[in-house]
Amino acid sequence: MTASARDRFLALLSAAIGEGTLVKLTLGKHRGADDTLQNLFVRPVTLKSGPHFAFVWRHATRDITKNHAPAAALTELAALIGASFLDAHLFTPAQTAQLECQSDGSARLKVKKLPAGETMSPSPVGAHDSGKNYLIPPDAPWLRALGVTNDRGQPREGMADKFRQIQKFAELLSHLLNEAGLDLLPPLTAIASVTTSPLKVIDAGSGKGYLTFAVSALLGDRAAVRGIEARQDLVALCNEVAVKQAFAPRLAFTAGTIAETPLDGVDVLIALHACDTATDDALALGIAAGAKLIVVAPCCQKELRPQLTAPPVLAAPLRHGIFQERQAEFVTDALRAELLEWAGYRTKVFEFISTEHTAKNLMIAAIKIRPRGTVDDSTAEQLRAFARFYGIKSQALARQLEFSL
Ligand SMILES: C[S@@+](CC[C@H](N)C(=O)[O-])C[C@H]1O[C@@H](n2cnc3c(N)ncnc32)[C@H](O)[C@@H]1O
Repeated sequence: MTASARDRFLALLSAAIGEGTLVKLTLGKHRGADDTLQNLFVRPVTLKSGPHFAFVWRHATRDITKNHAPAAALTELAALIGASFLDAHLFTPAQTAQLECQSDGSARLKVKKLPAGETMSPSPVGAHDSGKNYLIPPDAPWLRALGVTNDRGQPREGMADKFRQIQKFAELLSHLLNEAGLDLLPPLTAIASVTTSPLKVIDAGSGKGYLTFAVSALLGDRAAVRGIEARQDLVALCNEVAVKQAFAPRLAFTAGTIAETPLDGVDVLIALHACDTATDDALALGIAAGAKLIVVAPCCQKELRPQLTAPPVLAAPLRHGIFQERQAEFVTDALRAELLEWAGYRTKVFEFISTEHTAKNLMIAAIKIRPRGTVDDSTAEQLRAFARFYGIKSQALARQLEFSL
């Protein structure tokens, strides 16, 4: 009896794991209850206890990584391939094998031998990072130059949250870029380097540049990244590090305010923790420049607080200052998300890092899906009704978009 396509694929996988030649394995077309799960990426890692395989479970907005010893990895993969994941793509130095299963149980296997000179080498990672698969290597010299890590690639005292935030942001951005169709696949999924014209990325309110450097490190030559920052001293510091660490000229910092920065087209705009209405300035700048992807993490939502009124039923709970503060945050960020929708973006709002690490963890991500001003009137009317409900007559982003509340 001839072995099925799936069995032949599993035999190749078993040989690659047994012989230590697996470069990577990508599983796709997930079928199952968890519809946030998209892919499983598997690659070799070297841990203190010996060779393992890192399983990176890619969900819509986060990755979950688990390491398995070779035998356990094979058992788990055999149960997943053709059942929970219909597509599987195996890479070894000498060949690639692609399995495509159908829901009716049939399957097709394509094996391609790689010509000499095009081989891929297995590259176990993790010897330096206790098995964690970071998108930004913890021993990157720029992290050290910015004071985030020490000589051993570990977060310096007081910088553990910043280190986590940098890693989480890099992970999120790589998801969002793919979702926005910007075709910059993260290293795990890329079989060969993708050549496109550089993406223009703006980091509005870049501060000490932690996340600006992270974006540039993540995208390399594929992006021209510019930080805009009001504080001249921070701009000088960041430009100095960018030159010393060989990031310049693809990464540069400019002194100035977000609202007064002229932009001639931008692909991605990020603004993390730009204070109060600086977030609105950043959103307005991104929208005006036609950014395909906008990612902001707002903070100190003060503008609307004096205007906020609430129905009498909420008056008693709102005598507590903390509820007023949270209400102001909610109303401000909800209005921003709805205004982005009105301006032609599909938005999602989520917590991007655990509240245990920072309270400023709300993120609004917006992907441009249609030209501005093409939504139906009911969206605008709902937005106005929401503003009316809370007594809002004026808001920074609405003013800049000339949207009358
Ligand atoms: C809280 S820091 C955040 C820095 C960085 N984005 C991060 O998350 O690590 C906010 C930065 O935005 C800058 N900033 C605030 N308002 C600004 C504006 N209107 N134009 C330019 N920079 C601004 C501040 O000077 C400060 O460095």
